[in-house]
Amino acid sequence: MAGLKPKADPSNQRPLEYARCLMEHQFPVSKVSMESYKERKANYSQTLTGLGKWWGRKPLVLVRATLLGLLLPASDDPVKDREIFLKLMTMDEDGLLLRKNKSISQVRLLEELRRMPPSVQSRFLDSEAPPENPRLNRRLSREEKAELQRLVFERMPYTEKLQYCLRPEQIEGPSPEAWEEINVHLGTDASSLTELVQELGQRRFGHRPRVGDSFCGAGSVPFEAARLGCDAYGSDLSPVAALLTWAALNIVGGGKKVAEQVHKAQKEIFEAVDRQITDWGIEHNEEGWRADAFLYCVEVKDPESGWMVPLAPSWVIGEKTRTIARLVPDPAQRCYDIEIHEGVTDEEMESAREDGTVKDSRLIPPDGKPSTPMEVIRRNLRLWENDDLVPRPDDVFQERLYCIRWVEIYYEINDGQEVKELKKDQAQALPNFPLLLESGELKEKKRRHYRAPSKADLKREQKVLALLKERFPDWQGKGYIPSRRIEPGYNTTQPIRERGWTSWHHLFTPRQLLIAGLIISQLNNLLSKISVSASVLLCLGRYCDWNSKLCRWHPHGANEKTEQTFSNQALNTLYNYGSRSLSALEKAWVLSFPAISLTGEGKTKTIDGKQVDEYLDIWITDPPYADAINYHELSEFFLAWYEKLILKIFPEWYADSKRALAIRGNDPVAFRQSMVDCYKRLVKHMPDNGLQVVMFTHQDAGVWADLALILWAAGLRVTAAWCIATETDSALKQGNYVQGTVLLVLRKRTEEDSVFLDEIVGRMEEEVRRQIDTMVALEDESDPNFGDADYQLAAYAAALRVLTERPIEEIDPAREIMRSRRPGEENPVAQLIRDAVKIACDHLVPRGIERDLWKGLSPLERFYLKGLEVESHGEHRSGVFQELARGYGATDYTDLLNSDKANQARLMTASEVGSKMVSGEGFAQTIIRQVLFAAFLVVKSEEIRDGLNWLKSEVPDYWASREKIIHILDYLAALGRISGLDHWQKDAEAAGLLAGAARNDHI
Ligand SMILES: C[S@@+](CC[C@H](N)C(=O)[O-])C[C@H]1O[C@@H](n2cnc3c(N)ncnc32)[C@H](O)[C@@H]1O
Repeated sequence: MAGLKPKADPSNQRPLEYARCLMEHQFPVSKVSMESYKERKANYSQTLTGLGKWWGRKPLVLVRATLLGLLLPASDDPVKDREIFLKLMTMDEDGLLLRKNKSISQVRLLEELRRMPPSVQSRFLDSEAPPENPRLNRRLSREEKAELQRLVFERMPYTEKLQYCLRPEQIEGPSPEAWEEINVHLGTDASSLTELVQELGQRRFGHRPRVGDSFCGAGSVPFEAARLGCDAYGSDLSPVAALLTWAALNIVGGGKKVAEQVHKAQKEIFEAVDRQITDWGIEHNEEGWRADAFLYCVEVKDPESGWMVPLAPSWVIGEKTRTIARLVPDPAQRCYDIEIHEGVTDEEMESAREDGTVKDSRLIPPDGKPSTPMEVIRRNLRLWENDDLVPRPDDVFQERLYCIRWVEIYYEINDGQEVKELKKDQAQALPNFPLLLESGELKEKKRRHYRAPSKADLKREQKVLALLKERFPDWQGKGYIPSRRIEPGYNTTQPIRERGWTSWHHLFTPRQLLIAGLIISQLNNLLSKISVSASVLLCLGRYCDWNSKLCRWHPHGANEKTEQTFSNQALNTLYNYGSRSLSALEKAWVLSFPAISLTGEGKTKTIDGKQVDEYLDIWITDPPYADAINYHELSEFFLAWYEKLILKIFPEWYADSKRALAIRGNDPVAFRQSMVDCYKRLVKHMPDNGLQVVMFTHQDAGVWADLALILWAAGLRVTAAWCIATETDSALKQGNYVQGTVLLVLRKRTEEDSVFLDEIVGRMEEEVRRQIDTMVALEDESDPNFGDADYQLAAYAAALRVLTERPIEEIDPAREIMRSRRPGEENPVAQLIRDAVKIACDHLVPRGIERDLWKGLSPLERFYLKGLEVESHGEHRSGVFQELARGYGATDYTDLLNSDKANQARLMTASEVGSKMVSGEGFAQTIIRQVLFAAFLVVKSEEIRDGLNWLKSEVPDYWASREKIIHILDYLAALGRISGLDHWQKDAEAAGLLAGAARNDHI
């Protein structure tokens, strides 16, 4: 793609259109969360992930929804606006049907049919089948089958529907019928998303929208923007990120032709390297088998016994193949042989698991010898020098090849009577070998064998080292293998401290270096084609991620194999690790991506966010905020490989991680200042009617307050905020917290007249209430969009909307940011935000509770009733209860929790509170406490009278409070009917009986 058109002169902007956009008014958070989750779960079949490793990628569907949400206007018919938005996203009923590409199983069809009216059942069920064992009518026509699929699909909840659907990006877009409706509502004339985006951009900005991200990472924002037809821009401090973004725009987005060129080049390189390796004979053994994995371990001298001990936390090699390594003492040499055994017994597996020689950072020698902390062993660690490719003989940590997994290719021939096995060479010697294969009479088969290295294998290791040594100076000079030293840092010090590795190439075995060098030496032939050379660099990146000494050997699962270097966000050294052979790398190494032709134009740059010089209408950014990932350090792992080559391909870039400029959280004041500088820069580079969305991970009010000050100081004002759950299962499982990505919608602050704080407090309250009411009014009860946390979040946003609208006399955000605070000291916005949440909480009356009653309740009572409502939605994250308590100002809330375990938090039932807190101050004095106790008495004595008498004697002015008491009892009684609240069964029943008795009670 060509670059962007020349920069627009800010002073020449066309007349501006300031109409509120849809995302400033509403956003389908629940559906976008589910779609984002689906995309994340697709792992490697996500559109851009096949290009290489990056951290914190944002789902493309989220970017699409954001962009459309910013470009679409908010009309005075919010319900229709939502309908149209969902149509555009193909997240409405018709769109989902369009995306449905999988058939619903018979079992599921029958299950759902059971719940349908008999008239429908009779159309699809076999009338002869017994009712207890129904089956589908076998004579259903194609149309009838399709109709049944549709009927059942439409009854499914959204999450389930998604299991049968492609992602929105995988289809063309809305149907022609949908376009008709869309155009009528919007007054447009579009038949595709790109046409619509063009029209909306024209209206809002006077031209095709220019959209960018100055922290673009792996390029989700520019890619999706370009796909929607915008002029897209992506820049990042890291050249690794810029390369991924460039590739997203130009390789994935380059259409079929580029895809073909890239695949062809990759294939050629792979074959050339493969030929060379085969020629050298370094991956084949005497039987003709080819290795696919080499397992290495570290070996150290035990200071207590003087024996050399191989290290591994466990000696299990494969759970499925039941393969283990066994250490056999060699007293003469004071070392251990390592035997490899396949198909061992349960007991042998267990002892291999137990007999690891390193546990809890201690060396545990076999035979019960005393253990030694690894720290002690590391004391004599030598720092490696550039030429060290393997440990020197007297180094503390030696490296030892202890197992090779071989792949044997053999053939089965079926001569009509029996199936015979043939060795590879026997089969290939058959005169009609190709014909037999083609006819299927001869079948190629694979078998894997784990073996300890033989003498010949060790010789091959030596040969690899010799081949590498021969090439090493030349290859380093040419940049085929890294020569950069590892600069110490939060993550990068670890390999230096733990293994003495001082240069990046020390993180690789000679075998890994040799193959990588071979791959990259092919690049020179390809430099004329920029997309092809860039793709080879990315291949190299993937190769290194999948093949370093930091790749853990994974003995579990169907395929026992090595993991990625970056299976987590660290540079952890390992005691034993796996290395792949070239053949086992083919899938990991080759780029896999769909070929997409982007309509918009794209531009990529390596530049510090504070220096951005592109003038855009919309900035969507996801800064490195509170995600604790050291992008700059981790990317140096890749940059060490790209160093010289990337500049040949992109001469205008740099090849440095620019650590000093990276935004990171270790110094809060510097961090805030850099963020302000970056966002000030963006404000300068957008028109007055421009829009921004800042994405960040949802955390407590403190983080919000901090970010609010930053953006405020940068000259932005908040107009809305939405929270999307983008985390995948595993992340959510650990999450006891309200997880999610917040999308903060912002505009340039143009108001200059300042106000005093007390002038805005009343408006803030009003705005919070208005926000909540708008959301409640928009809510669709049968298909809820907002959860409890969304309302709190909306309150933050509403408060910030008022707060950041114009300057405030008492608060100078720029000064506040620079102030370092004492522990516990808050920024002045934090309290305002907390107040806003309290207003929202107080305003949000639980369903089934009357507003008048609610108004008279204490904070702890409100927390309790609201907490029960939250629980009834299946919510058990302790963080949610914590936030709720914060919102209500219910400080002693933990007294009311039965459990505060991460994902099992819940409130105590009446019986569980029992006779606690019946006397004294606080909760004991409240009407809710008395009602709970009364219900408990009924459960305990099975006498309704006991409960009623308690209420009459203990509630001051019982008769005046009777209506309230009945109302609360009804609320508790209803809990018994909610699935998931089984623990309330008895108490709810008692509350019901008590409510009846109180109703019938007369003076
Ligand atoms: C959360 S990631 C962005 C991920 C991106 N949205 C994606 O979907 O892949 C934050 C990015 O900020 C970049 N970064 C850190 N400091 C920067 C700076 N001073 N200027 C520009 N980018 C910076 C990091 O390299 C990282 O790629």
